[in-house]
Amino acid sequence: MPTPEAHPASSSDPAAAAPAAAQAVGVSIENLSKQFGTFEVLKNVTFAVEPEEIFVLMGPSGSGKSVLLKHIVGLELPTSGCVTVDGRDAAAEDTREHVRMALVFQSGALFNSLSVFDNLALYPREHRVANAAGIREKVMRALQILSLENAAQKFPSELSGGMKKRVAIARALVMEPQLMLYDEPTSELDPVMSATISEIIATLKDEYHVTSLVVSHDRELALNIAHRVGILMGGSLVVVGTPSELKASKDPRVAEFLNPKIDLKNPRFKKLET
Ligand SMILES: Nc1ncnc2c1ncn2[C@@H]1O[C@H](COP(=O)(O)OP(=O)(O)O)[C@@H](O)[C@H]1O
Ligand SMILES: [Mg+2]
Repeated sequence: MPTPEAHPASSSDPAAAAPAAAQAVGVSIENLSKQFGTFEVLKNVTFAVEPEEIFVLMGPSGSGKSVLLKHIVGLELPTSGCVTVDGRDAAAEDTREHVRMALVFQSGALFNSLSVFDNLALYPREHRVANAAGIREKVMRALQILSLENAAQKFPSELSGGMKKRVAIARALVMEPQLMLYDEPTSELDPVMSATISEIIATLKDEYHVTSLVVSHDRELALNIAHRVGILMGGSLVVVGTPSELKASKDPRVAEFLNPKIDLKNPRFKKLET
């Protein structure tokens, strides 16, 4: 086994296109609370994602899922508690130099003025991870994995929603991440494209041995590809378990969230608070 690479390769060798032998990392969230003003968005959240695990964090809109992801990449700082990645404080500047992590944003966050190829090449060019030929090889490899070779010269405006999500994942892959974080990777997609994205997330883990934390309220994705699922409600983690444990859960909040029954005689909107 080659020694694990702690830093992005700085080699000018085109062979650097092959993924660095990365070691999967774990994430630990301990008693994390986050307040914006007087509003407590996350309340004493504790859970860990094991190396190479696929952990799916579910929860209704506004429950604090995206805010939690931002703590892992250091975009938000805890009000109290702590978040560590590979044992390092996620809030510390140098953590992202030691651990390669990629956040795939809900919107894809692609640069509209750049072609797909240039969107993918942006990070490796800025960080001079390889020479031009090496970068080309890395980018084409990521595109190939996601069956996007023919889209290299297209612009984001020419892509369907599903293709944009795949390009966003390919762009993350170019960084050869040890930790992949996804924010709602299947939102706004039809069921078949959602299933495709779920397959991609599951197979990337097989090919790259990355650790994956997926924020999603896609029940099919969670129950089919997660090793464990956590459900966040109103900023508190109400349950963590394997998909079969969740399906068997007697907690009415879990059952209602995973399998809401449409009740026309007693509709929910009549009970909503104003
Ligand atoms: N920077 C911020 N300042 C104030 N409130 C915020 C900020 N970011 C998120 N919130 C609030 O925190 C709550 C949780 O947001 P978010 O994590 O985006 O929810 P979701 O689970 O849908 O991803 C929402 O009520 C949101 O308005
Ligand atoms: Mg969100």
